[in-house]
Amino acid sequence: MIKIPKWQYDEFKHCGVDFSDSAEVERYENKHRQIRDFKKEASAIIDSIGLGLEDKVIDMGCGTGAFTLNAADKCGKIFAVDVSKAMLDLCRKKCRGAKIANVEFFRAGFLSYEHKAKPVDAIVSKLAMHHLPDFWKQIALRRLAQMLRKNGKFYLWDIVYSFDIKDYEKNTQRWISKTAPQGDRDFKRRFEVHISQEFSTMDWVMEKMLEIAGFKILKKNYNEGFFAEYVCIKL
Ligand SMILES: C[S@@+](CC[C@H](N)C(=O)[O-])C[C@H]1O[C@@H](n2cnc3c(N)ncnc32)[C@H](O)[C@@H]1O
Repeated sequence: MIKIPKWQYDEFKHCGVDFSDSAEVERYENKHRQIRDFKKEASAIIDSIGLGLEDKVIDMGCGTGAFTLNAADKCGKIFAVDVSKAMLDLCRKKCRGAKIANVEFFRAGFLSYEHKAKPVDAIVSKLAMHHLPDFWKQIALRRLAQMLRKNGKFYLWDIVYSFDIKDYEKNTQRWISKTAPQGDRDFKRRFEVHISQEFSTMDWVMEKMLEIAGFKILKKNYNEGFFAEYVCIKL
């Protein structure tokens, strides 16, 4: 385990949904398999960052490998990084099953991963950054920029609030009932935990933090007031 200074945010202590629990990881995998098309998502990301066959990529907060597994044969190498051993174990097992050999796994996170190889060509992070409070998001973005070569691409997708804050109660209720299908109590619980305990931030905060970290936003998409996608370049 990596030794962290006492004043540093402990990213290994899971906030909100506990991804150190393998039963939770299994539930995550089953649910997301039903509601997402991992292949299609990965291919859209690959297109948006123009990933080449020789390119090296960091998948930060790789989880069970939604991107890693579907991008490995489209690039040179993937550094798959996650703080959760249970998530990494499943990602590793799936890669082994798919005979994928160009992925290296690291149990670490935004604040603790030390990239020892040459700066990468791209970094992808989906649905992970909201685990850090804002100050630590800023540090994380700065660290990511240092791992990326000049003009390298950064793809960030996360839950970011872009709705009108005056109506936060109505918007939040609407989002939860719309996104968690009727009767799906486990999914509803995840959204409630997300809002009450995790650290999603606001669109203008995220944009400013990306800029301060040394990125230029090339493309941004806000969806339903809760989802955000950024394609950035390192200046
Ligand atoms: C909702 S899952 C997303 C996984 C995957 N990227 C996907 O698209 O399905 C969030 C992941 O972020 C990881 N995570 C949480 N805090 C992290 C941190 N500080 N650094 C890196 N990963 C983190 C969790 O362990 C979990 O695997």
